[in-house]
Amino acid sequence: MGCFASSTRDVPTASVVPRHVAIIMDGNGRWAKKRLLPRVAGHHRGVETVRTMVRACLERGIEYLTLFAFSSENWRRPQEEVSLLMQLFVRALKEEVKKLDRNGVRLRVIGDLERFDPDLQALIKASENRTAGNSRLTLTIAANYGGRWDILQAINRMLSSDPEKGAEWQEADLTPHLAMSYAPEPDLFIRTGGEQRISNFLLWQLAYSELYFTEVLWPEFDSTAFDAALVSYQQRERRFGRTSEQLSGASAASPTGSRIDA
Ligand code: IPE
Ligand code: IPE
Ligand code: MG
Repeated sequence: MGCFASSTRDVPTASVVPRHVAIIMDGNGRWAKKRLLPRVAGHHRGVETVRTMVRACLERGIEYLTLFAFSSENWRRPQEEVSLLMQLFVRALKEEVKKLDRNGVRLRVIGDLERFDPDLQALIKASENRTAGNSRLTLTIAANYGGRWDILQAINRMLSSDPEKGAEWQEADLTPHLAMSYAPEPDLFIRTGGEQRISNFLLWQLAYSELYFTEVLWPEFDSTAFDAALVSYQQRERRFGRTSEQLSGASAASPTGSRIDA
């Protein structure tokens, strides 16, 4: 699989079904609180929703699904919740990787993984390696990820790739060093749980993504709620800086793929 050295100078082609959907899975704690359950019960239910979403993406022919599982700011949570989240992550990796592999899913984990336990780092590597040959769906889990961290590490790697370079650096020099350079930029961004913010998720890569916010809490997000987001996406006109009139003549903007009916 090649590298998507995308740049805002290129006009991407539009399609009816997004190639890449990126999601901030939010609202687990509030879901649990409403039921007088501990927050961790919400995280458990959240894992169920992840399974549902992977299935939904496979069925709809979506090629890339990226999920924000743990931000670089989430270490600020109570130690007990952080350690339960880690345990849940380990368990989900161990239990799901076989099924993901069987279904043609390639798993990738992005973020500053050095902060994790060496055992967890090894488990991540093994899971990625096991599924590396799959191409039906790429599932990326963002863990200890921050958009600013990503841009900075890419700058550092870019600069050390050619310390003697005299000419000015271009966008296309940087993008191969971003954590998700194996994927096209997200077409559709979804945040569940009602907050309307990016919370340091993909900052560079969301430059031209369609944004969709829903009140639905992550444990309750299902394929019907997902289809509502996809329908909203289909109704939008992605202009990438051009005018509406330009689009009606441009073949680059003509939709491909099949419509989702809701
Ligand atoms: C999202 O749900 C899961 C993670 C951030 C790990 P939250 O735990 O943020 O749930 P709320 O926002 O408190 O409801
Ligand atoms: C964002 O959710 C991070 C993840 C979903 C992993 P948060 O619930 O941590 O976001 P804020 O702090 O409310 O913005
Ligand atoms: Mg939250």
